[in-house]
Formats: sequence, structure tokens, C-alpha cells
Amino acid sequence: MKVLPQSAPLSGEPSGPLRGRLRPPGDKSISHRALILGLLAVGRTEIEGLLESADVLHSGEACRALGAKIERRGAGRWNVWGAGLGSLLAPRSSLDFGNAGTGTRLMMGVVAGHGVAARFDGDQSLRKRPMRRVLDPLVEMGAEVLEEAAGGRCPILLKGTPEPLPIDYETPVASAQIKSAILLAGLNSPGRTLLIEPQASRDHTEKMLAYFGATIASEPFGRGRRIQLEGRPELRASRIVVPADPSSAAFPIVAALIVPRSDVRIEGMMTNPLRTGLLQSLREMGADIDVLDEGEAGGERTADLRVKHSALRGIDVPAERAPSMIDEYPILAIAAAFAKGATRMRGLSELRVKESDRLAGIAAGLKAAGVAAAIEGDDLIVEGRGGDVPGGGLAPTHLDHRIAMSFLCLGLAARRKMAVDDASMIATSFPSFVADMTKLGARFS
Ligand code: S3P
Repeated sequence: MKVLPQSAPLSGEPSGPLRGRLRPPGDKSISHRALILGLLAVGRTEIEGLLESADVLHSGEACRALGAKIERRGAGRWNVWGAGLGSLLAPRSSLDFGNAGTGTRLMMGVVAGHGVAARFDGDQSLRKRPMRRVLDPLVEMGAEVLEEAAGGRCPILLKGTPEPLPIDYETPVASAQIKSAILLAGLNSPGRTLLIEPQASRDHTEKMLAYFGATIASEPFGRGRRIQLEGRPELRASRIVVPADPSSAAFPIVAALIVPRSDVRIEGMMTNPLRTGLLQSLREMGADIDVLDEGEAGGERTADLRVKHSALRGIDVPAERAPSMIDEYPILAIAAAFAKGATRMRGLSELRVKESDRLAGIAAGLKAAGVAAAIEGDDLIVEGRGGDVPGGGLAPTHLDHRIAMSFLCLGLAARRKMAVDDASMIATSFPSFVADMTKLGARFS
């Protein structure tokens, strides 16, 4: 188990043009799922390009505690020998998920559908995050919450059932984590699980389940999707190639757009349309982004992107776009700070329950950087400064990796450097961020 570095202040310094190539690390969502489905299949699952970040390594440890044998063969190359669906072991101690909401919620689904009990816990950020949204449907399926902190928070002791009830469930919010927890619990159900989501959220669980041999169907339903999963499939251990994470690529992309004279190539980025709302928004803002090479990795479309410094303009980002760029609002807000005119991002209530309250965190950091921003209901409005951002402040990060990377990127293009109080959490999703950005010409101190 890797130990996270101590809390570490860091600044992004005004930098010369960013130039060169960057291959973002493996996708975090797919990495969690690859380990988990590896646990549930019998035999050896081989993973290439796994994101070796703290969040994902915590999921790996949890899979081990539940009976998987896991071995690292080389950089990003891992083997998982699964315990098999229906055959998990009861973990001997508490499962520590660190900062990872995804690992926690998906694994709650796995435990709920098996006759084992597990205690879920993590850091101070995870302990603030709402878990009832996942626990409620799991309880409907027969799981029991034996202990929980006030308001349905971790630490949570969850007791699963060896015979989860097949349910019909409509998720109250478009959340891939809720959807995935229900599907993972439904996997061990003797019947069919039916799930409706109000808007389509990322579909990596559905795709990977089908790839491992499950019978799963997904079709448009109103503005969202209707998904049906047949329980108790024979899951085939498989080989998985993890494509590069668009949510990590977002940082060098926006940095290249805002640092004058930059010209950067992003390699092999996953372009699953349920993850590319940021690209669409940036293009509407006038971003010069070319798709150079389209390819495929692990059943997902990928592309190389060429990104050049661009004069951006403010836009209105509709609420319907939120699920396809839910993790990208902090860095979009930085692009908006450099744009000409105001940008309004609508319908962001879900940002309040991420690794931190990101609506408040973005607004506070922008204020510290000399940029006016306002929260109106669930909307965020950023008053763009047409390229001239003062910087010179300190952004509080509240254990949030994406807030830290966003304000470090702001500092690269501001008049004065921008500090964050703690860059250590960047290791939860993009451990090579500082090294990779430095190679492009970014300066940190
Ligand atoms: C994720 C889903 C998103 C996202 C998170 C990863 C996933 O959360 O914010 O970083 O891998 O399923 P919600 O689905 O809860 O919005």
C-alpha cells in the first residue's frame, strides 16, 4: 500500500509556452471497475494501463480483502485472480478507501450482493460524503446497514445478502456510482435488475459487464436510459486495456489553452461521448482543439488532440451537459476566468457532494486569484477577465485533487503565481501531474 505524502503547499508559476506531448494516465473509473470485475470473475484478468493512483490502489486492497489475488507485473500491468461471483470472503478488517467515493460506492454494491459484512471507511473528505443514495436501493435489495455515522456517512458497517432481490429502481440523480452499485449488487441476484436513470451517466460498468459475459441491455428512455441486467451470469476473466483518462487530460488541455503560444499534443485520450462535455464546452468558447488520430483501446474510442493557446469567450453551459463533464467544472471555471465575458454553468448541485464542496471551492479560489465569481442557486457564474488574471493568492483545497490541479493551472497563466494549500491529494488521481506538466514547460514552486 502506498502512503500519501504529507500535506504539501505548492504554487503554479507564470510559465512560458507549454509544448510537447503528454499521455494522461489510465482512466480512474475504468481502473476501479477492472479490479472489481476481476474480483468477481473466476480466473485471471489481465489489466494494462491501470491507473496506479491512491484511489485505485485502495480499491485493489479492498478486492484482496474480499478474496482476490492481485499481482503487479510492471508499470500499469496487473493480474487479478478473482474469487468469483457468489464466493467472496468476509474481510477481516475495515476497508479503507482513502479519498475514493467511486471505490467505496461500487464496492458497497458488491458487498450488498454477497453474504458478507464489511466496514467502509476513508479520509475526512470521504467521511463527509452522502452514502444514503447508494445504501437505500441496496437495502431494498436485502442488505442491512448495521452501523453508520450521522446522516448516512462513513464509517458504515454493511451486511450483504447471498440472495439479493431483483429490483426495479429509478435513480433520483444521474450518477454512475449509484447505477453501478445497484448493477454490481444485482449481478448476484437470481432475477433481473431494472434501472432507470433520469439522464445518461458514464456507461463503463455496463460496457465492462457485457465484455465479461453478462447479459445487459441499455436503451434510451425519455431523457435518460433504461438498463436491464440478468443476474448470476458466468463472468469470464478477461484482458482489459485502460484508455487515458479524459478527466486528467482536462488539466493539460486547459493549461495549453490559457498559456500564450502553447501547442500541446494529448495522446490516446478516451473520447466516450458520455465523458466529453468539457471538449464541447471549450470548443463553444473558441478553443483551438484538433482531433488528430482516432483509435480504440479497451472497447472505448480514443483520440490524440492538438491543443493551441486560444482567445476564449464566455458561454452558457446547459444543466443537461453536467453528467458528461461532472468532474471537469473546476478546470472549466479556470478556462472561464481567462475568457472574455461571463460564463454561466447551470445545474451544479452535485458539485456540492464531491471530494469537497466544489461550488464553494471554485468560487473561493477564484476570489483569491482576483476573479469575480458568484453562485446563484445551483449555477456558477465566472466573470472572465479576457486573458488577464491577477493570481497571487492561495486556494484552499479541502482534500480535493481536482481543485488543487485547477488552481495550479491557473497560476501558469496568471500575472502572479497561484498557491494551493495542499497538493498531496493530486496522488489520488494523477500522481505524475507535476512531472508531466513540468515536461511541457510548466513551472511549480
Ligand atoms: C464516477 C462517477 C462520477 C464522478 C466520479 C467517478 C464513476 O460520480 O464524479 O469521479 O467512476 O462512476 P457520480 O456518478 O456520483 O456523479
